[in-house]
Amino acid sequence: MNVPAPIRWEGGKLWLLDQQKLPEEVVYEEQTSTGMVAASIATMKVRGAPAIGIAAAYGMALAARDGEDLVGAARVLVAARPTAVNLAWAVNRVLQAHDAVAEAEAIHREDAEMCHAIGANGMGLIGENSAVLTHCNAGALAVSALGTATAPLYLAHDAGVRFRVFVDETRPLLQGARLTAWELLQAGLDVTLICDSTVSHLMSEGMVDLVIVGADRVTANGDVVNKIGTRGIAIASRYHGIPFHVAFPSSTFDADSASGADVDIEQRDAGEVTGPIRAAPGVHVRNPAFDVTPAELVTSWITDRGRIGSARDLAKLK
Ligand code: MRU
Repeated sequence: MNVPAPIRWEGGKLWLLDQQKLPEEVVYEEQTSTGMVAASIATMKVRGAPAIGIAAAYGMALAARDGEDLVGAARVLVAARPTAVNLAWAVNRVLQAHDAVAEAEAIHREDAEMCHAIGANGMGLIGENSAVLTHCNAGALAVSALGTATAPLYLAHDAGVRFRVFVDETRPLLQGARLTAWELLQAGLDVTLICDSTVSHLMSEGMVDLVIVGADRVTANGDVVNKIGTRGIAIASRYHGIPFHVAFPSSTFDADSASGADVDIEQRDAGEVTGPIRAAPGVHVRNPAFDVTPAELVTSWITDRGRIGSARDLAKLK
């Protein structure tokens, strides 16, 4: 696999791949303070639930190195984005550890192991000549390696299975078009880009065999909080009888939230919606970054601890 790592920790220095600049430029920016890491998370230079957790863990390591108040640093980092549970999970782990650097490195290493396990547990779903749809970027750029939704794809591809991947653009920030399409192409997969609004038409033509998406948070009842648009894809999948799978590491499971209704959905700047298009000046904008897919629409939850077919069995991820 030939995808640049989103996060590099080298010789006590933290480097983040600036994902705002992809795919045109591959630029790493050194992060010199906790505040800079928090800003990089908020502006989505680094994004994707596991990756923002790992970046924040190293942000805590920087705070420890600089002799800063760790509780204050944790508060700044956790406030950067509200929805992905991995962020607070990783920061709290480092806060409670004796050695901040070792703990951040452990979180990073474990994430790579979990992604590999997700891939192994999901690759059997990818049949010869099948077509898989994914949404947003739950790829290598969103984690430590391999991705979550993409891990089964990468492993199936490595095993010689021939299949195609449909990637939707993922308005407004185009993680599908800019990031997922780019990384899958680099790895030599057969990728086709579609507009977000093309999904149900494609399904109606019988061109999609299964859907695999990632998650920012999976709540106790199995609801899936993920990039805005996921819910619509799940509804269309159910209508067309297409399996809808959600891939995530156990660090994304939130046993403390009973359902998706308990999760704070991030609202982002209106300019993300109006900026790149010819929107009528002055129009009101709503820009929720995530939505909630009800557990009943999920065929299976593909995790590092196995593929789970019933929401009742998610409790074992605690
Ligand atoms: O706003 P983003 O780009 O951080 O949203 C990312 C997603 O919604 C991903 O699907 C999710 O974080 C899983 S990443 C493995």
